[in-house]
Formats: sequence, C-alpha cells, structure tokens
Amino acid sequence: MIATGLGEGPAARRVPPPPAATSIVLDCDTGIDDSMAIALGAGSGARFVACTTTHGNVPAATAGRNTVTVLDALGLTDVPVHVGAHRPMAQDLLTAEWVHGQDGLGDAGVAQSSRPVSGDLAPAEIVRLARQHPGELTLVAVGPLTNLGLALLMAPDLPGLVRNVVVMGGAVNTAGNASAVGEANVWHDPEAAQLVVGAAWDLTVVGLEITMRTAMPTVAIARIEASTDPRAQLVARVFQHYLGVYEPIVGERTCVLHDPLAMALALEPDLASYRLVRAGIELRGELSRGQVVADTRGFEPDPTDPTEPGVVRFVDTLDVERFHAMFLDALGA
Ligand code: RIB
Ligand code: CA
Repeated sequence: MIATGLGEGPAARRVPPPPAATSIVLDCDTGIDDSMAIALGAGSGARFVACTTTHGNVPAATAGRNTVTVLDALGLTDVPVHVGAHRPMAQDLLTAEWVHGQDGLGDAGVAQSSRPVSGDLAPAEIVRLARQHPGELTLVAVGPLTNLGLALLMAPDLPGLVRNVVVMGGAVNTAGNASAVGEANVWHDPEAAQLVVGAAWDLTVVGLEITMRTAMPTVAIARIEASTDPRAQLVARVFQHYLGVYEPIVGERTCVLHDPLAMALALEPDLASYRLVRAGIELRGELSRGQVVADTRGFEPDPTDPTEPGVVRFVDTLDVERFHAMFLDALGA
C-alpha cells in the first residue's frame, strides 16, 4: 500500500531522497517508539556513533537510562549515551508518561542497565562528533529538538559538518497529537524546532501526516509477540502499554510507528518519495504555538535546494508494506 503524506499540491514536484545514513547520532527521548526505532536500526545494521537524550516523553535522565538499557538489551553495549537538555528553551517542562508508562518503557519491568551515561552535555557532544567526522554523520532526532537547537547555537558551522538530518516531528495539514495542530516533538520546544528548520542543512521531516498512516496490521503485531528473537521479545514487552494507548485511536490493538519510520527513512530513504517545501514553526499563536506551517499552496516555484534555510524535505508518499517488512525483518519476527 502506498500512503500519501504531504499530499499532491497543485504544483507537486518530487525531489530525490536524502542520502542514506552511514553513521548515525540518534537524539531521542526514549520512550516506547524510540525503543522501537533503536531496535529497527540495530536489526538493520545501522552504525550508531552515539545516542543523546532530551526531555520529552520522560525527563532527559530517564530517557538516558532507558536508551542505554535498550542498546544493551540489543547487544549495542559500545554505543555511548549522553544526557542533554532537561527542559525546553522557552516553556515549562512537560512529559508524557501516560503514553509511555511511568518508566518510559511501558512499565513492563524491563531491568535497567547499570552502564554509565554521560551527564548533561549532549549538545556539546553532537558538535564534537560532527567535527570529528566532518560530512559523515546523519543526525536522527526523534524527540523534542532542544539538543539540536543548542548545538546550533553553540556551533553555527554545524550544518556544514553533518551529512544530513532526519527529524520525526510536526503535523502538516493534519491534526496534532499534543495540541489541535501541534505534534509532540515540535510542540515540546517550538523555539528549538525553528532553529532546526532555519538551519542550512539537508533536513528531512517525518511528521504525523505520514506516521499516522503506519499502523501495523494485527498479524504483524502477532508475529512480533510470537517471535523468539530477543529484539522482537524486547519490543513485544515494551509496546503492550503503547498498544493500549493507540487502540482507541486506530480502532484495533496495534500502534503507529512514529520514530521507527524516521529511522527507516534515514537508512533506506527510497522507501518514500519527497517534496521540498518552505516551512516554519508557529511561535506566537495562542492556539497554534508549535504548529509546523508549510507552504503547500503551489503558487510560488517549489524550492530546489534542500540546504536552503527554511526548506524542508517532507514525505510525499510511503511504501507502507515495504516499511513494515523492513521493521519485522529487523526484529527477526
Ligand atoms: O509525536 C510522536 C513523537 O512524540 C514520537 O517521537 C514519540 O516518541 C514522542 O516523542
Ligand atoms: Ca520520541
């Protein structure tokens, strides 16, 4: 099945996919679907250079502990984890334990790793790694964008040092999930999101307009639950709580795959087709703060340069079956 994301505007013009990631720094707020994204990456041979964590689903320190726990459970015991921003730039901290469980991993009793995480300086680590591997890193961000925003403030040359950026965030021309029009990762820190959208890098944004089309068939859920593969068993444990959250939304005991889709597109960008669109984040609207406003009117010539500040590559269409197959394959399910 081919799902439509942004939708064909009157002057819809597709652009090539972003480059496939070879080395990833994952910025996350782990989080049930963050865990599923790590599992997808691990099972697809992704090379994780480091993970950095932010506030969002849970406090940043909890996200750090969860990230190291998931990495270790998947055998990625040598991937360093750095905790970063503990709160947004210009609003109060809000977390979402009702979606992810009190422990952020679905309250499934997953034993925490005791491996140390580095404290508090994730944005500096992102900059350091980008300087160490110029032109090589793909930043995959699946939580609020505070760490990336801070890294941009610290190092204005950061956009020229990374290969590309893939963000899960936003809701273009569709309902939000944190407010009527705001998606959680953008809504949790709109100022940081605007810094990321306004930077001169190759930015792909994977929003609710496409991730809400990725609900797994119930037979796929059953395959994950029945699998003896340790990756599938980890996901089957942590996603029970998430299935309960999504059941009334989707109408079946299943869930959508927000963060796993961003990881999949970082690794296999040709799962989707794309459009380049000018976009910005609403920062002042009383009802619309944190909305991604994308100019899909088609009156103006479409942009052609993905590195133009304010230009975003959005998903136009997605091969959902191929994405689900990739996810199941990565889990050994
Ligand atoms: O809106 C979905 C996003 O918000 C996902 O990244 C989820 O983990 C939460 O952070
Ligand atoms: Ca997330």
